[in-house]
Amino acid sequence: MSSDTAMPLDEFIKQLESLAAEAEQTFQDAVDAEKLETARVEFLGARQGRLKSVQKSLGRIDKSDKPAAGKKLNEVKNRIQSSFEASQANLSCGQAERIRDLQVDPSLPGQRPRIGRLHPITQTIEELKDIMGRLGFTPAEGPEVEDPWHNFEALNIPEIHPARDPLDNFYLSLASKQAGLDSQLLLRSQTSTVQIRVMENTPPPVRIISLGRVYRPDTADATHYPMFHQMEGLLIDTEVSLADLKTVLHLFATNYLGEDVPVRIRPSFFPFTEPSVEADYYWNGKWVEFGGAGIVDPNVLKSVGYDPDAVSGFAFGLGVERLCMVRHKITDIRDLFTNEVRFLRQF
Ligand code: DAH
Repeated sequence: MSSDTAMPLDEFIKQLESLAAEAEQTFQDAVDAEKLETARVEFLGARQGRLKSVQKSLGRIDKSDKPAAGKKLNEVKNRIQSSFEASQANLSCGQAERIRDLQVDPSLPGQRPRIGRLHPITQTIEELKDIMGRLGFTPAEGPEVEDPWHNFEALNIPEIHPARDPLDNFYLSLASKQAGLDSQLLLRSQTSTVQIRVMENTPPPVRIISLGRVYRPDTADATHYPMFHQMEGLLIDTEVSLADLKTVLHLFATNYLGEDVPVRIRPSFFPFTEPSVEADYYWNGKWVEFGGAGIVDPNVLKSVGYDPDAVSGFAFGLGVERLCMVRHKITDIRDLFTNEVRFLRQF
């Protein structure tokens, strides 16, 4: 019988080593408790286990080699045993114990992810761009830090005009000085600046809107805020009239409010338009102010190098917050800027 055949010590050691390596790998690969238990029985099983069967060859080892063989056998047995325990700890730690350590109750409903959304003002801006885009107006942008030429001069607002009063504007005195400028930069007080910037860089015809922030040192109350948004519109072509302006405002209001909304214009004054008007739309039983508008003043056309005898145009400037508040029945402009999530979540 083979069990009677002698086995050399190094052959015995080789078998143990390769068994240990195989066992370690199998335990590591076990992905769940069931697989690990199957592996345990295969290698460490008390009766049929593979370690047990190698152990049986001990009897075939030469007597003088027996102590060394026995020592090796114990070593390998411990190695396989601890490898099994390590895998077991790993597995359970990945499941029940880890959950317990975290003190989590997995039977509770999950946490809903908080999905963000656009700010109501941003939503309004997107919608205004959409409506005006369909009327052929392309969005244009300009800087929020402006020079007096674009914010005033080119718009026919001379140095002595009260609109340039330091109490009505955010002048950036220090920044201007540091930049070595003679004139004082300021946070733009109106988006009409973009009219100038566009016309300086584009020959007529022009049909643009500009949506962005403007700044005025107003005390915040329900209808004022030191920063707000405007939509500026500018159309330059030949023989443009107030009737064209009124048509565009009417189409705009009707599209924005979703029904046929009457629009009226009242005489007003702005340095950069002549004639100038204030536009209102009729909504929910009353006239609501839209903003200012008018026929672009010839001086403005001249300041950008246009020929006032060849081209004419209209311009308008509307408050975005006001449009947003009317739509959503918001009664206090400050609610738009306090970033109160419970408020913003409604839109
Ligand atoms: N810039 C004016 C303001 O901030 C609004 C305005 C009025 C813009 C008439 C215009 C305009 O383009 O033609 O009060």
